[in-house]
Amino acid sequence: MPGKEPAGYWDWLQKQKPQPLVDASTIRAKDDWIRAGKRAFRDLDKPPTRTGDPALIALARNPASFEGVRAQPDGSVLDVRWVVTDTGVQLTTTECGSCHLQVLDDDTVLIGGAAGRFASEAHMTPPGVPVRRLVATALTQQFEGDPFRVAAWRAASTPWAPDARVEHLKDEAVKLGPVLAGIGGGVVFRTNGSPYFGAKIPDLHILHYSRYIDATGTHRLRGPEDVARYAALINSADSMDFGSYQILTPEQRHVRYRYADEVLYAIGTYVMSLEPPKNPKPPPANLVTRGEQVFKREKCAGCHPAPSYTTGELTPALGFDVPFDHPNFGDIRDRSVGTDPGLALRTRKGTGFYKIPSLCSTTDRSSASRNCSMLRVSIQITSARAGGRLALRKARSRAWSS
Ligand code: HEC
Ligand code: HEC
Repeated sequence: MPGKEPAGYWDWLQKQKPQPLVDASTIRAKDDWIRAGKRAFRDLDKPPTRTGDPALIALARNPASFEGVRAQPDGSVLDVRWVVTDTGVQLTTTECGSCHLQVLDDDTVLIGGAAGRFASEAHMTPPGVPVRRLVATALTQQFEGDPFRVAAWRAASTPWAPDARVEHLKDEAVKLGPVLAGIGGGVVFRTNGSPYFGAKIPDLHILHYSRYIDATGTHRLRGPEDVARYAALINSADSMDFGSYQILTPEQRHVRYRYADEVLYAIGTYVMSLEPPKNPKPPPANLVTRGEQVFKREKCAGCHPAPSYTTGELTPALGFDVPFDHPNFGDIRDRSVGTDPGLALRTRKGTGFYKIPSLCSTTDRSSASRNCSMLRVSIQITSARAGGRLALRKARSRAWSS
């Protein structure tokens, strides 16, 4: 951020040559991969948003664009980056780091945390730099040849069971802004999902407890390599074929760019190494005991057993009949918990299942407890018994449709 840079930074940057984000030749041990992955996860950029446009670069150099912005401790801001390319320094936007971070109540940033407030809401990104416009460019490059609203439609369309609201995204009369702006609370419209069945930005600190990726278990998770494959696929290599349905046009079906294997592997190793942060305020012992009793009485541990508070299995969404010859049959607990079936049955992320999440999560921003403590569980039991989980997903889809 201008004013927070080391002396001579901008001139120094102009003289730099492109360098690999992760240099595997310097890596000796797992800790080196984790360190490299942490940096890559935070700073990796979206190549389609890179721009050398002098007007945009001038905006990002202008202190006025940063009014009211709170810099990170190292003087940087979130969401935007400079990248050294063969054709000079360009402005760009962050990839994983633009969604997978949580601004905590004390305004520190937890990388890999479940989003609550977006960085822009927390005044950590420069309002004078058109980040959204740059990101929109990336979508229209991915869906080459499509006007923006057609790209938005294509990202969500389910031609075998069309959702009228999604089909209408193509109509000029529909105001896209409110539909796509996001509803806050860490729920976003993800490609292959739907603006009407948002996907929750997950807490990556509990990912290593899972055997599947995404809330609906779209991919298997056996180790860092699977995170790497998933990241490569969703960013630039998803053919979006569903049975006999081809979502993309022939021009859109080529791989536009690909992150280096070592970058993706480092990110996978880092993400799988994350652990839920320690609870800053240990809960009172009597509450823990009460929580444990209720947890036992309600048989929550059948799906959420200690110490990870998940079996790692999948459960069918309401209304999905599990076929007996399902290839993942051994991982399926055939009992629905009544969560809203929209994402799991009516989008291209739909597998018919929701995975059982670990409860060692940090999603509850209002709770002082941020690990697997029984206090958190006892608070959640209250909301679960009041239909909390069902209400949660209903609230998501309602908020998207309003
Ligand atoms: C536009 C926001 C956004 C960006 C950018 C993004 N993600 Fe995600 N990510 C999500 C959302 C939302 C989900 C949940 C999807 C779901 O449940 O279907 C997710 C899911 C994941 C998961 C699965 C987590 C779980 O609990 O199953 C991993 C791993 C992941 N992302 C890694 C990455 C990496 C690595 C990058 C950068 C290469 C990245 N993401 C970029 C929004 C984003
Ligand atoms: C049959 C398996 C099963 C049982 C039994 C079960 N759950 Fe769950 N739980 C799930 C699934 C699946 C989800 C994820 C639903 C979704 O993604 O919408 C979930 C989600 C949750 C969440 C939300 C976690 C998050 O970070 O979003 C909480 C909290 C929770 N369960 C607590 C409980 C409690 C407390 C009990 C006992 C009263 C219980 N669960 C019993 C399967 C189960």
